[in-house]
Amino acid sequence: TDRYCVIGNPIAHSKSPEIHAAFAAQTGQDIEYGRCLAPLDGFADTVRSLAAQGYAGANVTVPFKIEAFTLATRLTARARAAGAVNTLSLAGGDIVGDNTDGAGLVADIVRNAGVALAGKRILLLGAGGAARGIMLPFIEQGPESILVANRTRASADSLAAGFGGHGAAVAACGVDEIAGPFDIVINATSSSLSAALPPVPASAFAKGTLALDMMYGSAPSPFMAFAAAQGAATRDGLGMLVEQAAEAFLAWRGVRPETKDVLTQLRK
Ligand code: ATR
Repeated sequence: TDRYCVIGNPIAHSKSPEIHAAFAAQTGQDIEYGRCLAPLDGFADTVRSLAAQGYAGANVTVPFKIEAFTLATRLTARARAAGAVNTLSLAGGDIVGDNTDGAGLVADIVRNAGVALAGKRILLLGAGGAARGIMLPFIEQGPESILVANRTRASADSLAAGFGGHGAAVAACGVDEIAGPFDIVINATSSSLSAALPPVPASAFAKGTLALDMMYGSAPSPFMAFAAAQGAATRDGLGMLVEQAAEAFLAWRGVRPETKDVLTQLRK
């Protein structure tokens, strides 16, 4: 039995153990997956202790994804581009940092929502860690353009500049300069945590726009409600959560689980 866990603070609410248990049952993989509460000043010690206990890997969630990036002794290309790590593989004394958040969001949009990113005009709201994490996987899908808009314009500028050489048209703007409509609008701000609507004009949306909030909750976020009122199709971040877990499971076990039933189960 290989052991894994999710490390965070707080951690009690995490759905990852339930998701990975379902993946293990479905694929017949012999793993255990638990929760690990790390002290706010004790992330590195926690990871070293897990490695010493023989853990094969761990997921990392709030607020440790940047610290995990720093702690990793090796990084995947997508973790390096994200500047953050949500998946650790622990073997042979190495701490390998990966980031499956962006691939998870791409999988949710392409496979679950059935919307291709290739050739699309994408508006990305926010320029923090969540936004940065999805840039490279999105660019790899070949969109027509990605416009990064943020309340603090300078952060949007520096995020877009970091991905300027990657082949897609990446640009930045302030929230009062957003000129739509877009095919896909992603809310990567943390506004939904405070039940706020991020600054975005109604003109960003049209009938047929996919509006996706990376957050999820029991009710649609203000962003989703606003987008729906403009005729957009909306989606919350629960699919992304399940898909990033499937990508981590794939990285660890070499098999990608089916996600449909797990997502349906979580919605109940
Ligand atoms: P995360 O890791 O979730 O991305 P972060 O790195 O702190 O968290 O970034 C939070 C993002 O949400 C930022 O883009 C922030 O905008 P600022 O750079 O202007 O601070 C954005 N954000 C948070 N609350 C917001 C709100 N109420 N309206 C608009 N943007 C908000």
